Amino acid sequence: MFDLSGQVALVTGSSRGIGYAAARALGLQGATVVLNGRSANTLDAAAAALQEEGVKVQIAPFDILDIDQSIAAVDAVRDSLGKIDILFSNAGIQHREPLLSFPQQEFERIISGNLTAQWALGRHIAVGMAKQGYGRIIFTGSITAIRGKPQITAYTAAKAALHGMVRQWAAELSEAGITVNAIAPGYVATELTRNLWGDEAFNTWLQERVPQKKWGEPDDIASAVVFMAARESRFVTGQVLAVDGGLSSCMM
Ligand SMILES: NC(=O)c1ccc[n+]([C@@H]2O[C@H](COP(=O)([O-])OP(=O)(O)OC[C@H]3O[C@@H](n4cnc5c(N)ncnc54)[C@H](OP(=O)(O)O)[C@@H]3O)[C@@H](O)[C@H]2O)c1
Repeated sequence: MFDLSGQVALVTGSSRGIGYAAARALGLQGATVVLNGRSANTLDAAAAALQEEGVKVQIAPFDILDIDQSIAAVDAVRDSLGKIDILFSNAGIQHREPLLSFPQQEFERIISGNLTAQWALGRHIAVGMAKQGYGRIIFTGSITAIRGKPQITAYTAAKAALHGMVRQWAAELSEAGITVNAIAPGYVATELTRNLWGDEAFNTWLQERVPQKKWGEPDDIASAVVFMAARESRFVTGQVLAVDGGLSSCMM
């Protein structure tokens, strides 16, 4: 099960963190993976590490905030590899500030990266998937779209909209052979959360609130991505899977 040989997977935001772990896992299952981030040098280093493990890999540097650049890069991937079977639309951006002083410009930038760009890139890739009659689209949502948290108003609004979009896309793309799902990670130890790793108060809170009493690892998310990317998950669509050690579903 879950053999991805012969398939092409694009993973945005995969030079490190959750995206890198997911690209590695998809590659180890046989997919040809396309790594994305903003820096070609960083992507080259990540690709070299995957190649050493026997993964077939290409890089596609682009900034998700630049939709024209993203679409041109996707077209180049299609020209070179012939198709895209799996999209893990994972790159995301954050701005933390209290709601009452949150600048509207920042709100619009975060919505643009975490929602508009996801919609535009995903839709462009879905057009190709619909032509081939097969596709797997997976977005990275967040448990902060399920449970409110201070200081991240734009991020929360965008991720909650993504959760809704998954259900709407599932309704519209099922006939084309495309499944659309999202992963909602809990607290995962990556660069994005580096400021919290050593924070004693936060770690005490995490111990009390997360039933599994630990941080998630990028590989914990990657295994759920492999499931949603596989042919065998064909009857699963329109779902948001929280991968969070129980945080969003238990009262602790
Ligand atoms: N970590 C958590 O606890 C957690 C929880 C819930 C949701 N998430 C979500 O999970 C996703 C991945 O986060 P992570 O924790 O793995 O973060 P991370 O370790 O900081 O990695 C972010 C990745 O995205 C790339 N990236 C950043 N901005 C980009 C842009 N504008 N265009 C293209 N690529 C960009 C980065 O590469 P470059 O910097 O080289 O461009 C990097 O590869 C995000 O959507 C995040 O919101 C994370």
